[in-house]
Amino acid sequence: MDRAAALYDALGRRGAAWTAPLEWSETLPSTNDVLKGYARDGAPEWSVVCASAQTGGRGREGHTWASPPGGLYLSVLLRPEFASVGLVPLAAGVAVAETAAEFGVEAELKWPNDALVRGGKVAGILTESASGAAGVDWVVVGVGVNVVVDPVSLEATVSRSVTSLHLEADQVPAIETVAAGVLARLRVWYDALESHPASVVDAWRARSLPWWGRRVQVRTAQGFVRGKLNDIDETGALLLDLDEGGRRRVLSGEVTQLRPLDPSSRET
Ligand code: BTN
Repeated sequence: MDRAAALYDALGRRGAAWTAPLEWSETLPSTNDVLKGYARDGAPEWSVVCASAQTGGRGREGHTWASPPGGLYLSVLLRPEFASVGLVPLAAGVAVAETAAEFGVEAELKWPNDALVRGGKVAGILTESASGAAGVDWVVVGVGVNVVVDPVSLEATVSRSVTSLHLEADQVPAIETVAAGVLARLRVWYDALESHPASVVDAWRARSLPWWGRRVQVRTAQGFVRGKLNDIDETGALLLDLDEGGRRRVLSGEVTQLRPLDPSSRET
């Protein structure tokens, strides 16, 4: 059975039969880039492009995404017509964390949607979208999961701690099974975004790193912002209590933990 057929099969077995087009290529430059092309050509919602490896995998904030064989590289097309479209990245993060949990791996989400296990990144999500006069035209959610890739060789190419489901799970899951989990859980949370968006924010909080109240730095396009993590709001924006006083809503950026300003103050 080829991998697309295996994915259709895995989706059907978990009661999430897929009717939209689904492709699985051996190697692509970037599944997001291919699916964005399809989106512009009018592909239907829930179209999926997967690859067994990528030569030009892209991450958030201009990073590259190392994409050797052994990882899941999946992009799915959404055409949301509801107001809470800004929560799609969080919903995708929850779907990935829930899928990891199905294999006994408790991943924690770092805003907006990095999935970490014991500080090592196991999955990342790149969400890209286009809007027209009528609103959001399409959203492509790109998911990369380190399934059976070797974290040590990945760490040599990226300057951060990396792990894989293979290393963290009791059993090595088939990549198609991981893909089916991500798609099925994303579909559930996407429905929730329309009917009850607050439930997505709550689900995200429940799986987030316990960094609330701690001092962090966020690298944004406008520069660094430093302060204590207060919460996320109903739109998915990060709320920071700034070192210099006042509160800031941050819409995108890369969060890292910092030492407390006053070492004698106890942070929880
Ligand atoms: C990140 O954490 O920086 C996001 C990584 C997203 C990687 C995935 S792999 C499938 C899709 N295609 C890409 O080029 N990127 C995303």
